[in-house]
Amino acid sequence: MPDALLAMEGVTAGYMGDIDVLRNVSLAVHAGRISGLIGLNGAGKSTLMKTLYGFLPPKSGRITLGGRDIAGKAPHTMLDDGLWYIPQESSLFGYMTVAENLRLALEGRRRMFASVIEERFADTLERFPVLKEKLSAQAGDLSGGQQKSLEFAKAYMVRPRVCLIDEPSIGLAPRVAAEVFQWIDAFAKSGMGILLVDHNVRRVVAMSDHIYVMSLGEITAQGGPEDFAGDLHAQVREWLGINF
Ligand SMILES: Nc1ncnc2c1ncn2[C@@H]1O[C@H](COP(=O)(O)OP(=O)(O)OP(=O)(O)O)[C@@H](O)[C@H]1O
Ligand SMILES: [Mg+2]
Repeated sequence: MPDALLAMEGVTAGYMGDIDVLRNVSLAVHAGRISGLIGLNGAGKSTLMKTLYGFLPPKSGRITLGGRDIAGKAPHTMLDDGLWYIPQESSLFGYMTVAENLRLALEGRRRMFASVIEERFADTLERFPVLKEKLSAQAGDLSGGQQKSLEFAKAYMVRPRVCLIDEPSIGLAPRVAAEVFQWIDAFAKSGMGILLVDHNVRRVVAMSDHIYVMSLGEITAQGGPEDFAGDLHAQVREWLGINF
């Protein structure tokens, strides 16, 4: 396995005082590969993503991207190092149009020519055709599935080296959820490293190259899909309600 693109090593973090939500967490994401993270509600999965993206400063441990220390950097500067985040909640500006939300993703990028942005914009609309007829609509007026398309289209606009994706299929119809998982696969095939959290444990296990299990803020198990698929770890079996 080549060196990790994004690595968290021995990170402890929390929201307040001495309550640690993440405890000594280590995890890695590789270029062109999907790292999956599963765990019960409240385990700390979203907190881990927020810590990686700079919303929470780690109390101890290291976070590196391409070998560079990014712990403590502000979230709005993370794209400079190639990190992007599709959060569990919406990241869209509801009163802005679809086109404005898309362009905003690359607003103020240094060293980026307007012609490149326009090329990306056109390419993104080819890839996400549902947004073509909705360019002038307010993002807040889109359906849940269309809003999710816009979130992924934004990621496609910025082409990060690593994308953190938190619960992308929540609340979506099965057909739309299947499409979301196809985009994630396509992102990885294009060389992007992915950290994926989703409550659809079977899907995460099936599509990830490496799976981490989180429980009460700690990584309690990890392995390849082959370690989970045939004979699911006892803990995962319990969550799925499979008792054999
Ligand atoms: N802003 C916050 N301030 C204080 N505590 C928080 C905050 N956000 C989350 N927590 C706490 O941190 C713990 C982990 O929450 P987190 O949202 O990371 O879990 P999760 O694994 O993403 O759960 P879910 O599957 O429900 O999304 C929980 O005990 C939660 O109550
Ligand atoms: Mg969460």
